[in-house]
Amino acid sequence: MKKLVELLHHVPVVVSSGSLSQEVSHITNDSRQVRENSCFVAIKGFKEDGSSYIKQAIKKGAKTIISRQKPDQQYKNITWVQVKDDRYAFSKLISSFYNKISDHFYTVGITGTNGKTTITTLVSAILNRQYSTAQIGTLGMSFKDFQMKTSLTTPEPSEIFKFLSEVHAQGCQFLVMEVSSVGLHLFRVEDIKFSQGIFTTFSGDHLDFHGTMEDYFQSKMLLFKKLQANDWAVINLDDPTAFKIIDLLNCKYLTYGFSKNADIRPISYKFTTDGIQAVIETPKGKLEVKSPLIGKINLTNILAATTSAVIKEISFDNIYAAIAETKPIRGRLDFIYKNDFSVLIDYAHTDKAIESLLVSLRDIVVGRLIVVFGAGGDRDKTKRPRMGEVASKYADYLIITSDNPRKEEPNAIIRDIVEGIEEGFDSMAQEPDRSKAIGKALDMANKGDIVVIAGKGHENYQIFKDKTIHFSDYEVVDKILKKRESHA
Ligand SMILES: Nc1ncnc2c1ncn2[C@@H]1O[C@H](COP(=O)(O)OP(=O)(O)OP(=O)(O)O)[C@@H](O)[C@H]1O
Ligand SMILES: [Mg+2]
Repeated sequence: MKKLVELLHHVPVVVSSGSLSQEVSHITNDSRQVRENSCFVAIKGFKEDGSSYIKQAIKKGAKTIISRQKPDQQYKNITWVQVKDDRYAFSKLISSFYNKISDHFYTVGITGTNGKTTITTLVSAILNRQYSTAQIGTLGMSFKDFQMKTSLTTPEPSEIFKFLSEVHAQGCQFLVMEVSSVGLHLFRVEDIKFSQGIFTTFSGDHLDFHGTMEDYFQSKMLLFKKLQANDWAVINLDDPTAFKIIDLLNCKYLTYGFSKNADIRPISYKFTTDGIQAVIETPKGKLEVKSPLIGKINLTNILAATTSAVIKEISFDNIYAAIAETKPIRGRLDFIYKNDFSVLIDYAHTDKAIESLLVSLRDIVVGRLIVVFGAGGDRDKTKRPRMGEVASKYADYLIITSDNPRKEEPNAIIRDIVEGIEEGFDSMAQEPDRSKAIGKALDMANKGDIVVIAGKGHENYQIFKDKTIHFSDYEVVDKILKKRESHA
């Protein structure tokens, strides 16, 4: 139990009614989780307005209501605090409730359009060799054997802080977390103290949420603006926005990339269907790496993780071992079949990601690149023709299909993608049924070809107008190949 007045220290309050000495047992923004003496933060969301759940929260035992709305006098024995910003207040309240536990962690935050999950996994494997390390991201929250799925890449402060206080009690003081631009924008990491910020790449995604590229860019910058003089930024010098970020840093930084000017860069490398071999130049000397991850993009991710490790002075032996043992993450440049031809599943669902994916695979493929992909419905439409354009630029054959059409007509989305395909490129088919599209790709694959199935990665559903069905690229490929074997 904590007194409300202590929790309100850093919260800009407009006006309050009721006693500020109210005891608070728990803080939540989800009325279903309210219990006796909870503080309910009624957040005005995009779909739902928390204030419509205030009655329900009070019924379940909430004694404190935090809201952007004016106090509502009709509730007896309830303390109502009107705040300027509900999400900001939520983060501050939670942080105070958990005694600013984040300040006791060495936290590495990773932001950018692509590569966050991969870099999070690598950095956490490296740090874990010397320090027990927790991780938070698209794959959930995990520490040692404990694993918990989360619905968001960057969860709400209530989830993050609860997790931190639990792992801290088990001796954990290191955290590696994926920080989404949406999470930054909505104050989900407002009270997370970062010691390192890693920047991956920047390109147009989530424009449906952020509106403009500038707004999206500024959201990502929030992580770097938080870094103080003794903290470190790790910047991808190959990305065109690198200098714009470096300009606004108030902390130390190191750069990584293929660029000759990067502090951490590869001096030799080889890519095959079995992985990466490279020698990396670092300010601490040359480091040899061997990784089962695939392609140039993953060497970029390895460079980012190496930079983070060098800053934390992790031994080269430990960096080498952690990189060697980090296997492809399900759904990210993951070869699920390697034989006369091979099949790779990847999560790339933006033009930039498709481009880097295909450029990476060009270094590896002997035969043709046959690419199956689509674009999501009810989401950023501007990326569709761009996806078509880059795919036709780097692939030998395209099969354009569906990827969660949602409320839109699958064929209409496909048409938007086709719109961007380079003139004269006609090695392609349109097949809205994703299983059939995959079947077609596998049918036409010959020796040396790589069939790339992009967009879904580890997802196991397909969302249509009227239903969501179970759908996994992995299972579909498996089924088709098994059927073939039994007929052979
Ligand atoms: N360094 C990189 N540069 C460009 N593309 C990358 C890079 N790393 C990974 N990708 C592409 O992005 C896809 C997603 O990778 P990853 O899951 O690591 O990124 P993420 O930033 O966590 O994505 P999300 O925003 O979906 O959480 C990969 O499957 C790959 O196609
Ligand atoms: Mg991710």
